[in-house]
Amino acid sequence: MEDIILDCDPGHDDAIALILAVYSSQINLLGVTTSAGNQEHSQTLRNAMSLLTLMNINSIPVASGNRTPLLRSLISGVTMHGVSGLDGAELPIPNFQAQNLPAIELIAKLVSENPNKTTLVITGPCTNIALFLAVHPDLKSKIKQLVILGGGRGVGNWQPTTEFNFQVDPEAAKIVVNSGIPITLAPLNVGFEAQLLDEDKKNIHKVKNPVGQAVAGLVDFYGLSFDSYWNFEGLPMYDPCTIAWLIDPTKFVSRNCYVDVETKGELTSGESVIDYYNITKKKPNADVLFHIDRPWFAQLVLDAVKSFD
Ligand code: BDR
Ligand code: CA
Repeated sequence: MEDIILDCDPGHDDAIALILAVYSSQINLLGVTTSAGNQEHSQTLRNAMSLLTLMNINSIPVASGNRTPLLRSLISGVTMHGVSGLDGAELPIPNFQAQNLPAIELIAKLVSENPNKTTLVITGPCTNIALFLAVHPDLKSKIKQLVILGGGRGVGNWQPTTEFNFQVDPEAAKIVVNSGIPITLAPLNVGFEAQLLDEDKKNIHKVKNPVGQAVAGLVDFYGLSFDSYWNFEGLPMYDPCTIAWLIDPTKFVSRNCYVDVETKGELTSGESVIDYYNITKKKPNADVLFHIDRPWFAQLVLDAVKSFD
């Protein structure tokens, strides 16, 4: 059983990551914190709470994170995720209150109260976790690992070679990647493989429980961006790769690499520099996921959605 805190910015793919985390008996979801990214901080908080309400969960503490990246203004993901951040689904009004604590203090509380080490899963910009590490360095030893959706080896989805989460807050990504905590990095390369195809979407549409209906709406909306801009066969499900890896790492192909983040480049600020061939001879600081068993992943998502029957 993996004790995790999910730091997310829902976001269509964050929503599926959250559903997988609630569904899996191998994951103990201690708390959810939200970041400014796909939408402003108040909206991503509301979205996370609506999703938990949809799943009939009101006992998992949720707290809102920083309003802005560490040093920059927020770029929001409205072009991919719509004005609500979760366009396409009718979601319930949250039926519980958010914690009266900032995200980093909720993380500190949950990590210090946990007798075990805690895994932090980051599916939005790294702002909250960079701040948490700066404010609570004494708790670093209680973090088992960081599982991060971010970066890409030679590919981008926001600029030609930059991925959205690292692009939004490159300084935070750099701090987190260089934290010395064991890291599993899911870059765009694996997210591009973790596609839901038409057949998977049809199967999701057949699930008549409220979670299934909401996810059907989400994948339909999310698909519009990929059809029109990207010409992809299916929908890349970036964020759920993190939780899927925790559920079964044997379904992935990974490689230990030295990873850093560019913060100053004129065209490449926010780019992850993944030293695949160990050209720098630096000690690898991340296990980087490159490939996923796609049919297994699609079935996992379907099983999760069906489990709310
Ligand atoms: C990341 O950007 C966001 O739009 C997604 O939620 C994901 O976390 C992919 O680059
Ligand atoms: Ca996200």
